[in-house]
Amino acid sequence: MSTKIAIIGAGGMAAYHAQGFRDAGADIVALADANPAAAEKAAAKHGIGRHFGDVAEMFKSVPELDAVSIIVPNKFHAPLAIAALKAGKHVFCEKPPALNAREMAQMKTIAEKAKKTLMFNFNNRARPESYAMMEHIQQGSVGTINSCQAKWIRRTGIPGFGGWFTNKALSGGGPMIDLLHMIDLGLYFMGYPEPAHVLARTYQDHIDDKSFKGPWGIPDVAKGVTDVEAAAHGFVTFQSGQSMSFAVSWAEMNKREEVSVVFQGSKAGGMVQRLFGVDGIDSTAIDACELYTHENGRPVNRSIIVPLDAPMGRVRSAMNFIRTLEGTEKPLNTPDQALSLMKIIDGAYKSAASGRPITL
Ligand SMILES: NC(=O)c1ccc[n+]([C@@H]2O[C@H](COP(=O)([O-])OP(=O)(O)OC[C@H]3O[C@@H](n4cnc5c(N)ncnc54)[C@H](O)[C@@H]3O)[C@@H](O)[C@H]2O)c1
Repeated sequence: MSTKIAIIGAGGMAAYHAQGFRDAGADIVALADANPAAAEKAAAKHGIGRHFGDVAEMFKSVPELDAVSIIVPNKFHAPLAIAALKAGKHVFCEKPPALNAREMAQMKTIAEKAKKTLMFNFNNRARPESYAMMEHIQQGSVGTINSCQAKWIRRTGIPGFGGWFTNKALSGGGPMIDLLHMIDLGLYFMGYPEPAHVLARTYQDHIDDKSFKGPWGIPDVAKGVTDVEAAAHGFVTFQSGQSMSFAVSWAEMNKREEVSVVFQGSKAGGMVQRLFGVDGIDSTAIDACELYTHENGRPVNRSIIVPLDAPMGRVRSAMNFIRTLEGTEKPLNTPDQALSLMKIIDGAYKSAASGRPITL
């Protein structure tokens, strides 16, 4: 019998979730959104039979649901995930996992008690480049990864002014929490080591300048709050001796938008990268997956060729959730990893606020 799933949140990401769930053979039985008109419109667009303007009402009316996916502003991730887990549903939740590590720890405990699967949409792990690189890492051709550099830097990529993205109470922060994908991917490649210390700085330059707005995101809210950073830079050390530097920005004067993890291993270095020609426009993107080795006394560069995946793993990641529930694949991520990531993000904000390194 196919998994019965509902989508919570009618925003742009619902299309990727819907495609991934269907490609994996799941049955999408309902869509809920706090805005009933948005729920109705999105349900019609994605061919979903039932729609609700209230999530609790959906749980009551569709008891046969096995799982939900949560695609709403960050503040509502933890409360909705907890409500779903308590209602006995498996949960696939958009990134970031929660507003902070405290909320994430609560979600993990409740998932364990409920004996339900809790996964997050760290979709960059599901890119063909990441699958290929992970195979090399697992087969030992990279050796031990000592260090990595994680980057998601945008030039003019603020996702709207005064909406939920730029309101810390609703989003948890700016690019430090929003563009966490490459930090997650670097941690994944390094084996998710236990973090020891983080030292970071955040910057507010350009955060109120409308000429730094990205070509996507959400509409501006005239009297809304904009109180998050435009960029963050930092360094993380791990109990294992490994280390990571990171750079994330919505607005910074970089040459072009870059999404990358570069690492240095004992047997090989490597890189997974997407370069965007114009902030956020896929058609001009260049993807790369490379290994750097030393053979016969000389440096050798290898390009790993994989199929193009414009959605950056967003469809494949949703498929992995369904396949995990059905026992045909291993989960691409775990609540423990999400908690570790949230601790690093909390530590980065604490470090930026205090000006000091933080022990995690
Ligand atoms: N993985 C990715 O690549 C990626 C890309 C974009 C956004 N996201 C994430 O997806 C989430 C949603 O972002 P978005 O851009 O779609 O936002 P959005 O503002 O476009 O849409 C969010 C929807 O959620 C609804 N909503 C708000 N609160 C709700 C609640 N309590 N219950 C039910 N519905 C509620 C809103 O009415 C709206 O329709 C965010 O967490 C964001 O970080 C992930």
